[in-house]
Amino acid sequence: MRSSLIAGNWKMNGSLQSVIDLVEGIKAGDPGNAELAVCPPAVFLMKVGGMLAETGISLGAQNVCDREAGAFTGEISAAMLKECGCSYAIVGHSERRALYLESDQLVAARFSMALSAGIIPILCVGETLDEREQGVTETVVTRQIDAVLDLCGIEGIARAVIAYEPVWAIGTGKVATPGQAQAVHAFIRAKLEQLDSGVAQQVQILYGGSMNPSNAAELLSQPDIDGGLIGGAALKADDFLAIAQSA
Ligand code: 13P
Repeated sequence: MRSSLIAGNWKMNGSLQSVIDLVEGIKAGDPGNAELAVCPPAVFLMKVGGMLAETGISLGAQNVCDREAGAFTGEISAAMLKECGCSYAIVGHSERRALYLESDQLVAARFSMALSAGIIPILCVGETLDEREQGVTETVVTRQIDAVLDLCGIEGIARAVIAYEPVWAIGTGKVATPGQAQAVHAFIRAKLEQLDSGVAQQVQILYGGSMNPSNAAELLSQPDIDGGLIGGAALKADDFLAIAQSA
């Protein structure tokens, strides 16, 4: 039985004070049985990590460098994230792929670095609206996962979380129907099943894309949806906790 993970991707939002308020709000609430993780902007990781000590809420980064150390201005290494207390790092978010031109291979290298520092990568995959309309959703998701399999193998996926985030549903208020999301989640699990059925059954596959307190319960009740990667709704403690309670 897979446990539920509800992770908040705060993206580039907030201020030191609003981040403190948000963490206090989340700590004061009841998440039910779901595991919680929050991924604040990198400059707030140390602060949030300190506030989360002994709460059971995990800390995650929004990205991680594909190199170990050195002249990589603006990047943050997996070892540094580990020192800040990160258990998770998002890799391959569609905003990174689209706006900062991160390739499948670069995402795989970032994934690999997270693993080698003992950080659980949250690998984001998903198709654009154009790709969905062309009927190539499965091809796109396969290509994105294969890049990671090529570099890290199924053993790598065994130590990771996958997040299916259809690009057309991110920040748009347009949510995938539970059926649409479940179909892609089941496809991903079946693909992993061909390599290792134990891993396929154990790996958590989260849904991301306009998940909110009113649509979460139905999405999270699908057999292959094991949690959520939440953007906008994770910026309000009450909404984030309400989503967790429906898991
Ligand atoms: P929204 O929940 O704002 O659509 O964002 C989803 C997302 O991108 C999480 O990584």
